[in-house]
Amino acid sequence: MDRERLGKNRYFLKTTIRDQIDISDNDQNKGVPMPEIQKPHSDGQQLLDLVPAEELKEMSGMKLTEAIGDRRTRRKFDPESMMTLKELSYLLWATQGVRKNSGTTIFRTVPSAGNRHAFETYLAVFNVEGLEQGIYRYLPLDHRLVLERKVEDLREKVNLASKGQVFVGAGSVAFIWAAIPYRMEWRYTLAAHKSILLDAGHICQNLYLASEALGYGTCAIGNYSQELADKLVGVDGKEEFVVYMAPVGK
Ligand SMILES: Cc1cc2nc3c(=O)[nH]c(=O)nc-3n(C[C@H](O)[C@H](O)[C@H](O)COP(=O)(O)O)c2cc1C
Repeated sequence: MDRERLGKNRYFLKTTIRDQIDISDNDQNKGVPMPEIQKPHSDGQQLLDLVPAEELKEMSGMKLTEAIGDRRTRRKFDPESMMTLKELSYLLWATQGVRKNSGTTIFRTVPSAGNRHAFETYLAVFNVEGLEQGIYRYLPLDHRLVLERKVEDLREKVNLASKGQVFVGAGSVAFIWAAIPYRMEWRYTLAAHKSILLDAGHICQNLYLASEALGYGTCAIGNYSQELADKLVGVDGKEEFVVYMAPVGK
């Protein structure tokens, strides 16, 4: 590989861009309204209640130190294993849940640069108590799920979207995170993109630890088909696109 080309591409990992451009020349300071922090759903879509956050906090007996110490990537799942709705609620709360809503500012269980939270969480649900197989989306502000659509042969489609990594479609559920970059660009313009990826790491690490604490396993997936993953969750690939995935199973 051309070392000069590699070197040029590294600019993305640095904060140098903040010295080269004026970030204050952003849409926020121009008075453009803040983008919605949760994508809306249409009236006709089915909504499903999750187990409230207050009922989730005591559910794991595992100490944080143990969860951190035992964490590892797991790629063998039992496809028959049924995840409870309470367990799924816990994983969603741990990865994107709201921990404090002051009325004007909403804070979540994960940090985010400028509290911009550029992600939508889609779920490929295979085996979760009370849920039909399909693609769902988490609504953090409501702590509910919205059914995006039922999908036939979902496991196979997830396998194709993850470039044949068959274990991705073999768990109880697969988390699929899509970024809406403008949420971050509205404030940080060209410096937004590094922060979006840093944010993704926090989300997935919380999924690793929360899964471990419940006796489940997960695997971060960065190698997937952009086109098939975007198509699977139904995003346009431009204003919103998949950046990370993670199956969860026993
Ligand atoms: C950003 C990122 C992308 C990854 N993508 C994949 C992937 O596409 N397929 C896979 O099998 N593992 C993937 N992994 C898992 C790593 O291979 C794994 O974390 C690594 O081997 C270390 O193992 P450990 O997590 O058990 O410590 C990814 C991990 C990260 C953090």
